[in-house]
Order: sequence, then structure tokens, then C-alpha cells
Amino acid sequence: MLKLPESYDLFPILISKFDISNYEEEDDVIDRVLHDSDLGEHFLLQGEAKTSKTRNFLIDYPTLEVQIQAAIDQYTKKVGLLTLKPTNSWYGVYENSGKIDRHNHANSQVSGAYYPYVEDKYTSICFDNPTMVLRPTDIWDEVTKYSEPGKEIVVQSGDLVLFPSWVYHYTTPNQSGKRCVISFDTQIKG
Ligand SMILES: [Fe+2]
Repeated sequence: MLKLPESYDLFPILISKFDISNYEEEDDVIDRVLHDSDLGEHFLLQGEAKTSKTRNFLIDYPTLEVQIQAAIDQYTKKVGLLTLKPTNSWYGVYENSGKIDRHNHANSQVSGAYYPYVEDKYTSICFDNPTMVLRPTDIWDEVTKYSEPGKEIVVQSGDLVLFPSWVYHYTTPNQSGKRCVISFDTQIKG
């Protein structure tokens, strides 16, 4: 009888979900993203989806930025990255059927998606398995943690998801009612 081998699940990629609800400015933030009537288009957005004109959203919400910074600090410490701070920040507003195409974020180390408002409670963000492009000769028989092509992370109002900026991600057509997502990039503190 073959003994169980010693196994190594090597080189994990960290994606973290934080609950940052109940900070001081939360109601103001929700009010702002819910009632913005001056939204713009973006080539990645399809269906009923629009983006904010601001690219510096967090400057108006310092207590939200403190929450986000604390999450970034926890994330970078765990991964071993140098300390990062948010740079660009903007938001997207999705109605049902709205979605964002597959993309990653240039000129950033860690990116974030914070969901201040999801009308029907749950929504999701999908991440592609970045090792798949390196494995064109693999022929899959079943989906295991070693073979899954991607992962869908379920989120709700108040959640903040942090992920490596280079990981490709997208959403399926929104079915969660109105969904507002504040996104940001980061750079080394200096
Ligand atoms: Fe993104």
C-alpha cells in the first residue's frame, strides 16, 4: 500500500475580503455613489454600467481611506510587499445586466474593490487563474483546486476585496439590483 505523499501547495496568490462597514462616513459615501447623476462611459463597461468622473474619490472621505489603508497594511504585511498607499480611486454604478469586461490594473501593485451598496445583498467578482496561460498542454479531467480556471468571490455591502493588480478579473452580468463599487489602485509610499 502506497503511503500518502508529502504534498506542497506552492505559490499561493492572496485575495482578501474585509468587512469595513460601520465607519463614520458610510452614509455619506452611499448617498454620493447612489445619487450621482453625472456618470460617464468606459470601454470596459457593458450594459447598464457607468463610471464616476472623479478619479480621486477617497480625498473627500478620510475615515474611509483610513479603513482602506488599514486593510492594505494587513494585506501587504501578509504577502511581504512594501507598504502601499491608494492612488487613483473611482466608482462604478451597475444596474441589472451591467458588467465589466476582463481586465487588470496597470501601474499598481495591489488593487481594491469596495462595495458600499449592493441592493439585493449579494454580488460577486471573478478572478482568472493566472497560471492557466502557462499550462497549455494540460488536459483537464475534473476541477480541483489545482485545475480550476478561475474563482468567483461572493461579496455584500460593506465588503472590501484586495487583490494583486496584475490578476485578471471581471464580473458576470449583474443580477443584484443596483450595485455601487468603489475601486482604487496603489503605489509604494514615498
Ligand atoms: Fe478592476
